[in-house]
Amino acid sequence: MLSPYLNSLIEKAKQDIKTIVLPEGEDARVLEAAHLAANQKMARLVILGDKKKIESFFAQKGWSLDDIQIIEPEKSEHLKEYASLLFELRKAKGMSEDEAQKTALNYNYFGTLMMKSGHADGMVSGANHSTADTVRPALQIIKSKNPAMGVSSFFIMVSKNRPFILSDCGLVIDPSEKELADIAVNAAVSAVQFGIEPNVAMLSYSTKGSGKGDSPQKVKNATALALQTINSEPYNTLNIKIDGELQADAALDMTVAAKKAPESDVAGRANVLIVPDLNTGNISYKLLQRLGGCEAYGPILQGLNAPINDLSRGALVEDIIGTIAITAIQAQNK
Ligand SMILES: CC(C)(COP(=O)(O)OP(=O)(O)OC[C@H]1O[C@@H](n2cnc3c(N)ncnc32)[C@H](O)[C@@H]1OP(=O)(O)O)[C@@H](O)C(=O)NCCC(=O)NCCS
Repeated sequence: MLSPYLNSLIEKAKQDIKTIVLPEGEDARVLEAAHLAANQKMARLVILGDKKKIESFFAQKGWSLDDIQIIEPEKSEHLKEYASLLFELRKAKGMSEDEAQKTALNYNYFGTLMMKSGHADGMVSGANHSTADTVRPALQIIKSKNPAMGVSSFFIMVSKNRPFILSDCGLVIDPSEKELADIAVNAAVSAVQFGIEPNVAMLSYSTKGSGKGDSPQKVKNATALALQTINSEPYNTLNIKIDGELQADAALDMTVAAKKAPESDVAGRANVLIVPDLNTGNISYKLLQRLGGCEAYGPILQGLNAPINDLSRGALVEDIIGTIAITAIQAQNK
């Protein structure tokens, strides 16, 4: 049973159909998600894997493969071209032609090279791979949309049918002030892509100087940097509000906000929550999900030239469908 929010994402994905590659054709959950996503007509799905095995899996289930393309990277007519592309892109980093040929056969690299070549709009992987294995080809090949800004990740958390953004819970381990500012700006852009008008709170254990320490100071300095960025092109047309440093209660609760940060135009109405480091982000989303009953979609990469997203290895079929929809929506807005 899909949640109302997940259904709303699927409807959005359907409005402009994108091609999404799924490199983990050996995984039954990925195949079921591909079948359901194709049935819903929410994306054009391309599965990488053993054609015979995938066809027999679908036949056993009585599912049609009409709207799904299967590619066996080893036999692909594009393999040579992808390997040359990879070599060109990575030779300055020391990659040899031989290494490029082997690496292009890695399905995560193959899928990423399909995107780089314009043969796919997005990729969803990670059901059987670590975050690093999924994300590294994206960082090396697709790269940051704004070269001056780092790539990071966010979760869409849904509480009582209301979505909000939490970032970074998945990628940047211990962000510098500049990296934290980039996370905030990219999270605001992500919010806009998902129909949320961004009120960004830079979270801390301190509200406007109430607590002392290096961490609140870092958050305060990052807020100043992020404010500079959102006042310049191309961000200045997005109606982004950012404030910090704020405690979570001051960010979310109007009564607390009135006491702790009465001047703030974000406090009490924050819907984009930026945490100071990956420890806080990862722990927060899991607590919100397990104890707070929130739906959690992510980690979703932000700031890339084109969308590649990571699945948790414990991902359920619904999680994979949600991530396909999110990736398609990001591709619509890239
Ligand atoms: C993402 C991650 C895997 C990258 O690690 P890595 O592969 O060792 O990274 P490297 O430092 O070798 O960088 C690889 C490339 O990515 C680039 N890169 C790394 N982080 C980046 C970022 N945040 N934004 C943009 N580019 C980045 C590097 O510049 C490098 O590019 P280059 O090879 O073209 O010079 C690492 O940050 C990580 O492990 N993060 C935590 C993931 C995690 O455990 N999350 C919790 C579970 S969800």
